[in-house]
Amino acid sequence: MSRNKEDKAVAGRDRRVLELTDRLMEIEQRLIPTGLHIFGREPARAVSSDALRVLASFDRPEEEITSLPQLIAAGLGLGSYAMLRGEALSEENLATRERIDRLARDVIETFFDHRNAQPSLRCVEMLNEGGCAIDRHQLEKLLDFLSSTIAGMESSREADSLAAALRGQYVEPGPGGDIIQNPGVLPTGRNTHAVNPYSVPSRAAVLRAEPQARALLDRHRSESGRYPETIAMVLWGIDNIKTQGESVAQALWLLGVRPKRDALNRTTGIEIVPLEQLGRPRIDVVMTVSGIFRDLFGTTMELLDAAVRSVAGLHESDEQNFVRKHVRAQMSQAGDDFDEAVLRVFSNAPGNYGTNVNFMVNDSQWNDSRELGELFVTRKCFAYGRDSRRKSFEGREAKALLERALARVEVTYQNIDSTEVGIVDVDHYFEYLGGVTRAAEKQSGARPAIYLSDSLSPDRKVRTLEETVKLETRTKTLNPKWFEGMLQHGFSGVAEIEHRVTNTFGWSATADAVDDWVYDEVAATFVLDHEMLERLRRLNPHSARTLVGRLLEAAGRGYWSVEPSTLEELRRAYHDLEDRLEGVVVDA
Ligand code: BEZ
Ligand code: MG
Repeated sequence: MSRNKEDKAVAGRDRRVLELTDRLMEIEQRLIPTGLHIFGREPARAVSSDALRVLASFDRPEEEITSLPQLIAAGLGLGSYAMLRGEALSEENLATRERIDRLARDVIETFFDHRNAQPSLRCVEMLNEGGCAIDRHQLEKLLDFLSSTIAGMESSREADSLAAALRGQYVEPGPGGDIIQNPGVLPTGRNTHAVNPYSVPSRAAVLRAEPQARALLDRHRSESGRYPETIAMVLWGIDNIKTQGESVAQALWLLGVRPKRDALNRTTGIEIVPLEQLGRPRIDVVMTVSGIFRDLFGTTMELLDAAVRSVAGLHESDEQNFVRKHVRAQMSQAGDDFDEAVLRVFSNAPGNYGTNVNFMVNDSQWNDSRELGELFVTRKCFAYGRDSRRKSFEGREAKALLERALARVEVTYQNIDSTEVGIVDVDHYFEYLGGVTRAAEKQSGARPAIYLSDSLSPDRKVRTLEETVKLETRTKTLNPKWFEGMLQHGFSGVAEIEHRVTNTFGWSATADAVDDWVYDEVAATFVLDHEMLERLRRLNPHSARTLVGRLLEAAGRGYWSVEPSTLEELRRAYHDLEDRLEGVVVDA
C-alpha cells in the first residue's frame, strides 16, 4: 500500500471507531424502565438516580433552570454544551463529552449520598477538585428542583386515592404526562387532568417544534439530497396532551404557518409564515389522527384543515409550495374539486378507534402485506374539517381521496414522547406508523423513508425507523437489565418480552425494518438458551409458545433468513411447548 492509501485507511478506521464509540454512548445513556410499575409502590433508588440524571440534562427555561451538562461545560470553560454535541465527531470532542458525562453522574451520586447535608456544597467541592468551577447558585437551583422531584417520587398516593375514589370522595387533580418532561405529574395517584385543547399548540410547543421539524427535513435531505414534497404524519392524543401539541405545531411549521392567539391564549387561527422567512418550500402534510386525538382536539383538527386550505390558496410557485402544486395537479388530473383535493386530516369514522392493523398482525390473519395497508386506509379514510362554504364535515368517508394523497408520500413520521413506551413496547406504533407506511407504499409503489423524532434526548434526535428498532432492541429486548427486570414480575414479565418480539415483528410486516441479526439474537437469548426457555415456560407457557411461534412466522414469511439448523431447533422447541400445554408431555 502506498503511504497515501495507508493514511486514508487509518483515517477511515479511526472514523469508524469514533462512530462506534458515539453509538455505544447513545445506547449506554438511554433511559429504560427496569421492571413494571407496581400500583401504590414507589420506584426503587436505582430507577430514581438514572431518571434524575436524565431529568437534570434538560434546560428548563420556564423555571430558569440550566441543565447539568451545560453548567459543567461552562464550569470547565468550554462554552455551550449544545454546540459541543453538534460538533463533528472527533476524539477530542468525544473525550470532552465523556468527561462532562462522568462529572454529571458524580454530581447525581454525590447529591444522593448527601441529600440532607448541604448537597450543593459537596457537589461544588467535588467539581472543583475535578477542575470545574461551576456556578454554585445555578447548581443549587437545579438540585432544589431535583429534591422536590425526588420527594414526589417517594410519595405515592395511588392506593389511598383509589380507595377515596371508590368511596366517592374527592381526589385532588394533577397533570398527567412524562416525569422527565413534566415532573409536575408527581406525586402519582391524583385525578389526572389533561390539557386545555383550545390552547394547543402552546407557545412552548411551537418553540420546540420549529427546530424539530427542521431536524426532520435536514435528516431527509442528508439521506436523499432533497426536500420531501409530502410527509404523512401520525398525530396521537396522548403525546399532544403531554407536550401541549408539539406534533401539531410541527405539522403547522412544515406547512409554513403559525398559530394565532386571542387575549385568553386560545388558538384562533393561523398566520402564514412568508417564504423568505421560512427559507424552504412548504411541505404537503397528510395527517392520520387517532380516534383519541379526534375526540379531544376537535378545534385543532379544524385548525389543521384550515391551515392546509390557506396554504393551498397561496399564489406561490410549485417549487416553493408543494401543497398548492399537489392540489392543482389532483384537480386537473383526477377531476376532483378543490374541497376534495385539499383533504389532509383523516381519522376513523366517528365513534371508531384504531387501525386494526395490529390485530391482523397479532393474529397472523394476512397473506400479503399490502392487505395491512388496505386495512389501514379502510379504517382511517374519514376526513375532518370545514369546506369552502365553512360547512363542517366530521368524518366524511373519502377513501379514494386519502389514497391519492398517500400516493405522493415520500416520508412517514411520528414523534416518540416517553422513555417508558417505545416503538416496540406497544403494538400501536406499528399499527399507525407502519400502517400508513404500507398504505403509502401500496399507492406509490415505493416504500417511503420512515422517521421518528425523539424529544427525550436533550439533542432531540431524528432517527430512521431502522435505527430506532436497533436502538430499542439493544437497550431493551436484548439487555439483561431490561429482561431480568421483567422476569421479576413472573407471568406478566414473560408476556412483556413476548409482546416486544411480536411488536418487533410488526415492523417487519408493515415496513421491512428489522435486520436478521435482531431475530438471530432474540432466538439465541430466549429460545436456544435452554435454561432461559425453561424459565419462560415455567412462568408463562402461553407467552413462551407465542414468542417461539412469532420467530417461526418471521422466518416463514421471509423476513428473517435463518440457518436451517436454528429453524429446526425452533420448531422442536415450539412443538415441545405445545405438547406440554396440551398435556401430551407432562412436567416431571
Ligand atoms: C393516542 O391517541 O394517544 C393513542 C392512539 C392509539 C394508541 C395509543 C395512543
Ligand atoms: Mg393497547
